[in-house]
Amino acid sequence: MPNSSDGPWWADAIGYEVYIRSFNDGNGDGVGDFSGLTERLDHIADLGVDLIWVTPFYPSPMVDFGYDVATFVDVDPLFGTLDDIDRCLARAHELGLKVIIDMVPNHTSDQHQWFVESASSPDHPKRDWYLWRDPAPDGGPPNNWVSQFGGPGWTFHEATGQYFFHAFLPEQPDLNWRNPEVVAAFEEILTFWLDRGVDGFRIDVTQGLVKDAALRSNPELRPLTDGMSRFEQWDSFEHRHDIMQPETLDVFRRWRRLADSRNAVLVGETYVLDAAALRHFLEPNDGIHIGFWFEPMHTEWDAAALRSVLADPHREAGANVGWVMSSHDDPRAPGRFGGGREGAERARGLFTMLSMMPGLPFLYMGDELGLSDGQVEPDRFIDPVVFRTGVVTDNRDGCRTPMPWEPGSPMFGFTSLDDGWLPHGGRTDADTVAAQSADSDSPLAHMRRLLHTRRTWFASDLAGVGSVTFGPIDEENPSVIWFDRGPLRCVLNTADTLAEVPVPAGSTVEYRSLADFTEVELASSTASPDVVSLRAREALIVRRGGEAT
Ligand code: GLC
Repeated sequence: MPNSSDGPWWADAIGYEVYIRSFNDGNGDGVGDFSGLTERLDHIADLGVDLIWVTPFYPSPMVDFGYDVATFVDVDPLFGTLDDIDRCLARAHELGLKVIIDMVPNHTSDQHQWFVESASSPDHPKRDWYLWRDPAPDGGPPNNWVSQFGGPGWTFHEATGQYFFHAFLPEQPDLNWRNPEVVAAFEEILTFWLDRGVDGFRIDVTQGLVKDAALRSNPELRPLTDGMSRFEQWDSFEHRHDIMQPETLDVFRRWRRLADSRNAVLVGETYVLDAAALRHFLEPNDGIHIGFWFEPMHTEWDAAALRSVLADPHREAGANVGWVMSSHDDPRAPGRFGGGREGAERARGLFTMLSMMPGLPFLYMGDELGLSDGQVEPDRFIDPVVFRTGVVTDNRDGCRTPMPWEPGSPMFGFTSLDDGWLPHGGRTDADTVAAQSADSDSPLAHMRRLLHTRRTWFASDLAGVGSVTFGPIDEENPSVIWFDRGPLRCVLNTADTLAEVPVPAGSTVEYRSLADFTEVELASSTASPDVVSLRAREALIVRRGGEAT
């Protein structure tokens, strides 16, 4: 772990998301699994990562590829056995990696025994574990809540004459978190996994658990029309009653006590795009430890926007921010920032900045290779979201194509088969871990260098330096953003042209996101000793000299 001060073990750690279906196939069925993950843990450890988050692996009908959980205390045979998990945890711990697993408390699969019982009769003792309501007087749904995957959030259940609510697919009914038995059931589940040795949880849909007690309709902002994407449908309402209820924090307060007693971390999928709202789950510092901040996945490439994407959550939530640029749910950063070499350089520059912010920055598998989304032809679309709305841009298949490991096989080493559950998406030999390991100027080589250099800083000058100070945007250099952390200054040139940036006299360059390994300084264009030159899209870390600029 990087931190030598007395903070928690995850202070200034780097996380790595493993979308298990697409990481590495150990048993030759075209789907990633635990034995495959264990084989490739060395790659993650060599990168300089400290913890991995493994996406759901529980028994599941796989309607939402594992986010529809049929039991929370076992492994789907597709991914292996409990013994495979034990082996994976043991190997990870041997390599110094912590492992957190995905907990999906908002909903279950409709095949979960709890729901099967709940749906069996309005009088069943588990009826109240889910959100069941009579139809509205006109026979329609009980309120106007929509599904985050598009379409109505309510589905009518013929057999018992009531509707049930699902924030996602009808096959993912929402639990009733106002029922204390549900609260107790999850404490047992968390304990089961903590006893097995996991180091914490990534909590799915953190903002959604508890709903308005009276299930009131949300204020409508505009009428729904045909052809709207799921995001447009969602944005047609003010989500006053279906998410962000204060009682959700009470659930996390209980989880926090449990986690703290085991030195485990709680990382929440806090899908709020307003920095102040992040605090809701963290304060007064007895909720979850880390809340993901997703705005880097949505921001424009613009200096002022990027500065506030970094500064705002830091101001609101300090070292409790989980930083992410890419995930299994959204287009990968290099593609979003324009694609090609420019997009990859922008993404690398931004990650350099994120990696120096207090909090817990996460890479999504393949970020270290500079990957954009894989290309998936319409006849291979498999994400249920696209079938629900018919809107192709909603599709998440492109960010989920398999990891490319080695040149020379049809699936670049991901599986021994000629094809996988998703295609490789147009990867080339140069995209693979093996090829990039042999090239000192590859994205992978740069990422290793950044993460290892960063470790040395956090073990010395930056140990315990838990905050940063942002500089204003300078009229002379409007494309440049910067902040200071301890003795280091981190600077990003967002422009597509060179920028000459003043720094305190006597500063020395410690890291350049676009330098090759042998290059110490971009000497040719340095105008004077207290000015540094940043290439287009380059991030730079300098050790500040003595004098103020
Ligand atoms: C989260 C997951 C996403 C899943 C959804 C429903 O947003 O990241 O992949 O589809 O929850 O569980």
